[in-house]
Amino acid sequence: MEQEIQQGTSFIQNQTSAFRKHGSDSIQVFAPATVANVVCGFDVLGFAVNEPGDEVIMRLTDKPGITISKITGDDGRLPLHPAKNTVSVSVQHYLESIGRTDIGLDIELHKKMPIGSGLGSSSASTVAGLFAVKTLLGDETDVAKLLPFAMKGEEMACGNGHADNVAPALMGGFVLIRSYDPLDVIRLPHPKDLYCAVVFPEVDVPTREARQIIRKQINMKDAVTQWGNIAGLVSGLFMQDIDLIGRSMQDVLVEPVRSILIPDFYKLRELAMEAGAVSFGISGSGPSVFAFARNEEIARQITQKLQQHLTGLKIGSQAYVSTINDTGPRVIG
Ligand code: HSE
Repeated sequence: MEQEIQQGTSFIQNQTSAFRKHGSDSIQVFAPATVANVVCGFDVLGFAVNEPGDEVIMRLTDKPGITISKITGDDGRLPLHPAKNTVSVSVQHYLESIGRTDIGLDIELHKKMPIGSGLGSSSASTVAGLFAVKTLLGDETDVAKLLPFAMKGEEMACGNGHADNVAPALMGGFVLIRSYDPLDVIRLPHPKDLYCAVVFPEVDVPTREARQIIRKQINMKDAVTQWGNIAGLVSGLFMQDIDLIGRSMQDVLVEPVRSILIPDFYKLRELAMEAGAVSFGISGSGPSVFAFARNEEIARQITQKLQQHLTGLKIGSQAYVSTINDTGPRVIG
């Protein structure tokens, strides 16, 4: 009994020191949506946008273990069970890695972006959760160290632990995954005035299925085209050369297959390019599409044209215009 009380005391002291580090027993974090692949860089390129994104409210509790007390904005689609939710599973992996499974945490997840949209919805939630726990516990290690835990969440969400959504959501900006084994992630520069126009046509494309339809083997000619484009895009980012960025964003491997999942994809491209887009393609595994534009006005014209077309097809849509988000997750309360 005495030992139990002592353990209880040390638990409370541990918790209290965590309170002191963050200055509170609860935290609210926003993490951004992301555009993965960036057309030619399947599984290796991605960037974060300013909106939309997800929010997590996390509280320290006095009972060890993780609970999820509330999820909003998901139409009941996401599991509250902590062993089945990507946020709690990633946070649990993190707590195990730092030897702090004695911690009690309660999570509220507020989905502020569409699920299954190709905008890194599960990544935004997972990253918000990981950033919340790291900050609550006063862990000052580099945010990029959270990446393997976030990838666990991706693996659970769609059967594959790719990093091209979670890495930019976590680190902000434009990110290259040079290697998965060993993990080698590089933040790339980008022109500050590059705008991203995103349109989400409201049809469901689960990433798991969108991955299954991709060809497993590719021919050398296509490979040469693809790596020329990836190198061109990365060069364009370094050189701030928007024309080079635009002409490099072509995908001969994945887009020809996945475009069939997106309503009138090639017409949407035509409309975006007519409206002045620098480039156009599928965001992540779709159905969202995105375009780069040289300024905000052009980006808004692009979203307007695409949404008009989708309305004509009787398909609802949501649109977002943003610069590239260099911040990644942030504490909002
Ligand atoms: N690179 C991943 C894919 C991103 O295209 O399947 C998923 O959002």
